[in-house]
Amino acid sequence: MQAVILVGGEGTRLRPLTSTVPKPVVPLVDRPFMAYMLEWLQSHGVTDVVLLMGYLSTAVRNVLGDGSRWGLNLRYVEEPDPRGTAGALKFAESLLDERFFMLNGDVLTDIDLTAQLAQHERTGARGTLALVPVDDPTAYGLVRTEADGAVKGFVEKPSPDQIDTDLISAGAYVLERSVVDLIEPDRNVSIEREIWPQLVGDGLYGFADRRAYWMDIGTPERYLQGTFDIIEGHVRTQVTERLGSSYLSVADDVQQAGRVVPPAVVERGCRIGEDAHVGSLVVLGEGVTIGARTVVERAVVLQGTEIGEDCVLRDCIVAAGTRIGSGTHVTGGAVVGEGVTIGADNILTEGVRVYPHVEIPDSGIRF
Ligand code: GDD
Ligand code: MG
Repeated sequence: MQAVILVGGEGTRLRPLTSTVPKPVVPLVDRPFMAYMLEWLQSHGVTDVVLLMGYLSTAVRNVLGDGSRWGLNLRYVEEPDPRGTAGALKFAESLLDERFFMLNGDVLTDIDLTAQLAQHERTGARGTLALVPVDDPTAYGLVRTEADGAVKGFVEKPSPDQIDTDLISAGAYVLERSVVDLIEPDRNVSIEREIWPQLVGDGLYGFADRRAYWMDIGTPERYLQGTFDIIEGHVRTQVTERLGSSYLSVADDVQQAGRVVPPAVVERGCRIGEDAHVGSLVVLGEGVTIGARTVVERAVVLQGTEIGEDCVLRDCIVAAGTRIGSGTHVTGGAVVGEGVTIGADNILTEGVRVYPHVEIPDSGIRF
């Protein structure tokens, strides 16, 4: 089975993480984000994957390669200009099989694609959209269905008065190649706004999976939540198998004088100072140094970062190669970009975002 994945967006809402690394390969726990999608697809019988790309594609290629690491044949298609969610598919038309999965490239999910495909075959659909419930459908595509699953209405980004169901399109579709015939070539076409409405009553079905985990990881808050859900095992991934029933992975060579509380992942080459407290819900990438008495909770600290003594890191993301001086607090959803230097005794909180390679002097920021 073939899958095409849409990865054309710039990931602007995840900046500064995506200022230096394209969103598909932003590290999530212990692997690039796209690895979760590839492992999920592979587990449902996909062997051939085409990535429909726009932004920084060389960096994505360098990380994911030819897919052989996942037993997949991975190919890349670059649009000359952004073609939209349907236009990108049209542009790749010559590579498409008769039937294929199409995925939005920004969701972390364990939707049962095998069951979705079985329903698609049973109903003889032209397109089957996976549906998941959410509390607030306004940021998504709302989908109304008949009892047999046939879609009777699709509303992209509904206004509050249009909401009469909690089911939205999860960004995972089974499509027949005939759907691609509906897309006009050589222009920007939105599959949500131009193609789904045409298919309502004409072979478009919904497959509701109310038990699945589903999250669009496009903001720092949801990136953190996705990290926690992976290490707590709320979403089925290969990380769950790696962590086992202890919900803990500390590499053999870690120099650990302080405490690590699960769920937590501490990668190779990390050093945890005396009386430091790491966890729960923490990921430390390779070669991270945590100073004495520093507390790290509900946080992601990426590789090579050095944190001084007596710091507090809570509910935050600190990108790779950052240095943080003693006594500094990074809390409240703050995101620190790659290669930043922060002096001693700073307080960063309230969702502040520090862009890559910025330098903040001692006591330079207080709230
Ligand atoms: N190649 C390519 N070209 N990819 C694109 C383009 C493009 O021009 N535009 C968007 N994409 C990719 C994005 O990178 C993302 O992976 C996917 O298409 C969906 O685009 P988003 O910009 O993330 O859309 P959204 O999240 O607002 O809404 C979509 O996803 C929801 C579920 O998360 C819609 O499909 C909704 O109907 C759906 O509910
Ligand atoms: Mg999205």
